[in-house]
Amino acid sequence: MKTLKSLKVNADILRGISRKTVEIHHGKLYAGYVNKSNEISEKLGALRKSGKVEGNQIYSELRGLKLGETFAVNGVYLHENYFAILGGDGVPRGEVVRAIEEKWRSMDEFKSYFSACGMAARGWAILAWDMYEKRLMQYNCDAQNHGGIWGAIPIIAMDVYEHSYFIDTGSDRAAYIKAFFDNLNWDKIEELYQKAKKYELD
Ligand SMILES: [Fe+2]
Repeated sequence: MKTLKSLKVNADILRGISRKTVEIHHGKLYAGYVNKSNEISEKLGALRKSGKVEGNQIYSELRGLKLGETFAVNGVYLHENYFAILGGDGVPRGEVVRAIEEKWRSMDEFKSYFSACGMAARGWAILAWDMYEKRLMQYNCDAQNHGGIWGAIPIIAMDVYEHSYFIDTGSDRAAYIKAFFDNLNWDKIEELYQKAKKYELD
C-alpha cells in the first residue's frame, strides 16, 4: 500500500513556481499516482486469487495492470523525491557537491549539463546514484516507465512534464528549470546522497 506523503514544502516560499502549480501537482497528480498504485495492487491481488491469470502479451488484464503498475509506482517515487528536494535556498553544499564536481568539473558545468538534459527529456531528468558505477550519473526518461535505469537511486528528480510549469512560465521550460535550481534544498539532497551511496553492486 502506498500512502500519500503530505507536502513538506511551503508553496508560498517557492520562487518561480506558484502555489497553484504545486497544489495541482501534489494534490491531484501525485495523489492520483498513489491512488492508482493502490488500485492496481488490489486488482492484481484479486486477479491472482481468481485463478484466471492470463499472460497474453497482445492484451490481457494482467498485461494492462502490469503496464500501469510501473507507470504509477514510478510516478509515486519520483514525485516524492521531487517535492522533498524543493523549498531550499538553492545554495549547493555538502559532500554531494564534491561528488558532482568530481564528475562534471564544476557546479556550473553540472547545472548547465543537467539543464540541457531537462530540455532534452519529455518526462524527467534525474541525478542518480548508480550502484554499479558507484558514482553519480545523469539519466533521462520520457515517461516514468520508459528510460529508468535499474540499479540507480534518484537523488535529484526534475519533473519536466508541462504540468510542472505551464501555469507559471507557459512554454518557457528553461525559465522553470532555472527556478527549479533556485529552490533546491541541498541539505535534503545531501541526506539522500549519503543514504544512497552506501549501496554498491558488482
Ligand atoms: Fe509531475
